[in-house]
Amino acid sequence: MLQRMLIDKIENRILVGIVAFVGVMILVGWVAINEGARMSSFERQFEARSIERGAELFAANCSTCHGAEGLGINGRAPALNSPHLFGYDYFAEINNEIDRLQERDAELEAELGAMMDEIRAGVSDERRAEILERQTEISEERDSIATQLADLETQKQDLIVALQPAIDNGYPITTQLTADGESVTVIQPSRLAQLGWSNTLESFILTTLIHGRPTSIGYWPQPMVAWEQTAGGPLRRDQIQDIANYILNWDKGNDWTLEDALRVQQYGIVPGLGGGGGEQVPPVGVDVDAILQRLEEQNIVGDPVRGGQIYTNAATSQLGRRLGCSGCHMGGVAAPNTEETWDAILNERLNDPALAGYTPERYLVESIVQPGNYIVPGWPAGQMPANFGEQISLQDIADIIVYLRSYSDSEVGSWLEGTGEAAPADNTENSEESSGE
Ligand code: HEC
Ligand code: HEC
Repeated sequence: MLQRMLIDKIENRILVGIVAFVGVMILVGWVAINEGARMSSFERQFEARSIERGAELFAANCSTCHGAEGLGINGRAPALNSPHLFGYDYFAEINNEIDRLQERDAELEAELGAMMDEIRAGVSDERRAEILERQTEISEERDSIATQLADLETQKQDLIVALQPAIDNGYPITTQLTADGESVTVIQPSRLAQLGWSNTLESFILTTLIHGRPTSIGYWPQPMVAWEQTAGGPLRRDQIQDIANYILNWDKGNDWTLEDALRVQQYGIVPGLGGGGGEQVPPVGVDVDAILQRLEEQNIVGDPVRGGQIYTNAATSQLGRRLGCSGCHMGGVAAPNTEETWDAILNERLNDPALAGYTPERYLVESIVQPGNYIVPGWPAGQMPANFGEQISLQDIADIIVYLRSYSDSEVGSWLEGTGEAAPADNTENSEESSGE
């Protein structure tokens, strides 16, 4: 009895032991399985919160230059929410197909060559007949390849035409001359490749944010400054990471559409590209009287179209600079509205006793090369860059003046407009004023 109880007990114990063991194993297994999910959901939440914080920081610190949705502001700063920054290649499919066909064509050509060699070395009639037959096949296939290639080339041209508005905003599709004088279309779908950056996009964004790009003062109205505290900026390292996460979250992978490319207001530019074509043009300087005198004496005629191009960043100044006037002035975003400038000068500014004796041209030249001399009422001082005198030529300033003039119906014209007539009456004032020079 005692024995049986003992066995019973042992069996019970074994049973309890086994049950407990299995139970613990199940529990451990369950926890282990769920830990992964729990962790990744935790990571997702963490990342989502980081992106949210990044969005707030972006709106507060970056949107004034890069646009509220990161689409860039024309003439001010490039887009970050852009297929170009993420390296999406609109031409990849077409180009792959072209490569494939060209490879096939080269293969066929090689096969033809080998058969020609064979014939030259002497072949049987039978083999010759075989070769002739194969030659016909090959030339048929090559004809078809040529047709397909022509078709792909058309598709490519159509795509370039569709992208034209983006190209106008700096999407890098350019026509370049080869050494033999042949013109080729160069497409640079990736911002990182364009800048020769071989590391990741994340590191590109972080480095740019941490250190800024101080040299960009040379080709943008205001540079990209350093944002991290160690570099004298206002943001902590973790905040910089939050912003980077927010920007990286704009990636659409392979789903970027043509509309996305067309929504971008401004693409990145390559420092030092474009510009004065190597001619040495002197900067206009900051001496208003001297500039007015030279404009007149040299019979400079302004070109409003080119003026518009340099004003809106579609072209560089003769000194190869991007001026970005429109980024602040277009639509009156951050400065007096471009379209109203000429009339405002005639009807308001020149009535100001402080500007007694000014002509519109004098006012404009001074506003551009010495913006601090007169601050337009209602606008902040110190916003308009003060170094345009170093960035533009005499011709550039004439072009800008007639461009601004072109928005007005007023008869009071600019003698820079090239009507072939002598300077209008108000110009004599100029000569009088500048006679001291
Ligand atoms: C005062 C205007 C201004 C502000 C504010 C500004 N940026 Fe920039 N940023 C620029 C300019 C201009 C460039 C282009 C520099 C160049 O081309 O070398 C640039 C370039 C960049 C680039 C590199 C893009 C490229 O394609 O080369 C990144 C990334 C960037 N900025 C992020 C930011 C973030 C994030 C903020 C906010 C913390 C910010 N910027 C605030 C003007 C600004
Ligand atoms: C960073 C912003 C900014 C840029 C870039 C800029 N401006 Fe201005 N500009 C201003 C502001 C702000 C004012 C008004 C305050 C003042 O008078 O300085 C102004 C004033 C002017 C005025 C006087 C307008 C009036 O209604 O009386 C002219 C003309 C002008 N700018 C031309 C230009 C030209 C041309 C360029 C490019 C070569 C340019 N600006 C680039 C901000 C800018």
